[in-house]
Amino acid sequence: MELHLENLSKRFGSKTVLEKINFSMQSGEFLALVGSSGSGKSTILRLIAGLDQPSEGSILVDGDPVTGPGPDRGMVFQKYSLYPWLSAADNVAFGMRLQGIKPQEIRERTGYFLEVVGLSDAGAKLPRELSGGMQQRVAIARALATNPRVLLLDEPFGALDLQIRESMQDFLLQLWQRTGLTVLLITHDVEEALVLAQRIHVLAPDPGRIIRSIDVNLDKQDLSQLRLSKDFLDLRRSLSGTLRALEAALC
Ligand SMILES: Nc1ncnc2c1ncn2[C@@H]1O[C@H](COP(=O)(O)OP(=O)(O)OP(=O)(O)O)[C@@H](O)[C@H]1O
Ligand SMILES: [Mg+2]
Repeated sequence: MELHLENLSKRFGSKTVLEKINFSMQSGEFLALVGSSGSGKSTILRLIAGLDQPSEGSILVDGDPVTGPGPDRGMVFQKYSLYPWLSAADNVAFGMRLQGIKPQEIRERTGYFLEVVGLSDAGAKLPRELSGGMQQRVAIARALATNPRVLLLDEPFGALDLQIRESMQDFLLQLWQRTGLTVLLITHDVEEALVLAQRIHVLAPDPGRIIRSIDVNLDKQDLSQLRLSKDFLDLRRSLSGTLRALEAALC
């Protein structure tokens, strides 16, 4: 799988929200986009998901231009987005039903992906009966169930409190290490980006553009050690400094 964004620009009316965004992703890569509120992070993801059209430039998945939504791109939204009237299992099955997959296979894959996110016992529950972290895990299972080539995550843990957030980060890292998924994560949390991603692009607002890119070469075997290591703290300080400088420039 290869994802290419070439000179991607997006305007809403007279406002330029994204200007000449260029980056690529290869199979199995974990990339994070960080940036302050309003820097266009969700807009980039919506364009890749095919939920909106670019003003200029192109998005290619394995050489084919994105023209609309498709099961090759699985998305988890910033706000909880499960269908409230469907059980966890039916939420996971939803996209597969749209794809016309046979009921028997849907049942098997639903069971498998609920197990992958550690919710084998929660299939019959409605979203309101699940905690926020569990709901986002169901949303991840739903996105994985259609076998996407890239998983698009828009601040999936943004609404969770710190402790649950850290355990969700551990969960996502293990999932990625185990499955070799290709993941594009959006976050405004520098620490989250550093814990999870191999590469980070920093977006500046007005207009949204990439102003810095870093490769993260950290040992991710033990995350509690990682969060305390000098290399991690140095990178965190440097990235936070970049974001603070951007915010100061806006004031
Ligand atoms: N449909 C739309 N119509 C008009 N303006 C929009 C639309 N969608 C987004 N915008 C504007 O584009 C800019 C970027 O929005 P976007 O939601 O991509 O930011 P973000 O980086 O995801 O922010 P946050 O961190 O708060 O989620 C904002 O100024 C927003 O008001
Ligand atoms: Mg957003």
